[in-house]
Amino acid sequence: MTTTTLETVELTKSFGGVHAVDGASVSFRPGRINALIGPNGSGKTTFFNCVTGMIKPDSGSVTYRGHDITGKAPHRIARAGIGRSFQLCRVFPRMTVLENMLVSVRSGSLVGRLAPARQRGDIARARELLARVGIDHLERAEARDLSYGQQKLLELAGVLMTDPETIMLDEPAGGVNPALIDRIGGLVRSLNGEGRTFIVVEHNMDMVMSLSDHVVVFDRGRPIAEGTPAEVQEDPRVLEAYLGV
Ligand SMILES: Nc1ncnc2c1ncn2[C@@H]1O[C@H](COP(=O)(O)OP(=O)(O)OP(=O)(O)O)[C@@H](O)[C@H]1O
Ligand SMILES: [Mg+2]
Repeated sequence: MTTTTLETVELTKSFGGVHAVDGASVSFRPGRINALIGPNGSGKTTFFNCVTGMIKPDSGSVTYRGHDITGKAPHRIARAGIGRSFQLCRVFPRMTVLENMLVSVRSGSLVGRLAPARQRGDIARARELLARVGIDHLERAEARDLSYGQQKLLELAGVLMTDPETIMLDEPAGGVNPALIDRIGGLVRSLNGEGRTFIVVEHNMDMVMSLSDHVVVFDRGRPIAEGTPAEVQEDPRVLEAYLGV
């Protein structure tokens, strides 16, 4: 088994004069719950966007399971086995919960997607996943009528439709009430127990410290420290980045 699942080398992305991701070399091991933390504006979301193909990096490389995926289109990266959620949860507000689940299956040709047998399989899987995240009773509701936390659960269930081996979550606990934060944490743990690797950007330190095996700390577009939750908590560089001293 390879010791690295996702690796970036000197990844760089600027917006005008802002060096959002600035030569970031990071490697994540398979099977872990990795956290990616750092102050606001330190480049975490831009890093996710570069890795998942939403943004083309200016330079540097992204390798997933030994394959170069730098600058590839999002659907190709999804097909390679990486799923993701968004910091500002993305669901289709006027579609039902079940319809949202079905549009998240992006692979396959249009004809294949519309084939009845395929659709039946997808519907069964969608229902199973909605039950797993605890919102199956809402399948006919429009997504806009769900609470924000429920929409996050829907987004997570949608991510699982493609059966990703690696799941990148951008602030899963952001704007979510404590009971649902616990549920999301429990889901991450159980999905990890099935062998899925996680990379989680999160500002909720209780969640980061209790959930993750390994923490990478970003500041100004690149990693400045990494280690176990206990190690990074005591690292002076991390305190400095957060407190700006
Ligand atoms: N599309 C964009 N156009 C211009 N500047 C951008 C764009 N996206 C991000 N930036 C800038 O890049 C820097 C990094 O932003 P990014 O959103 O990646 O940080 P972050 O670590 O995810 O922050 P937060 O914790 O607040 O979500 C910030 O200075 C931000 O303003
Ligand atoms: Mg962000």
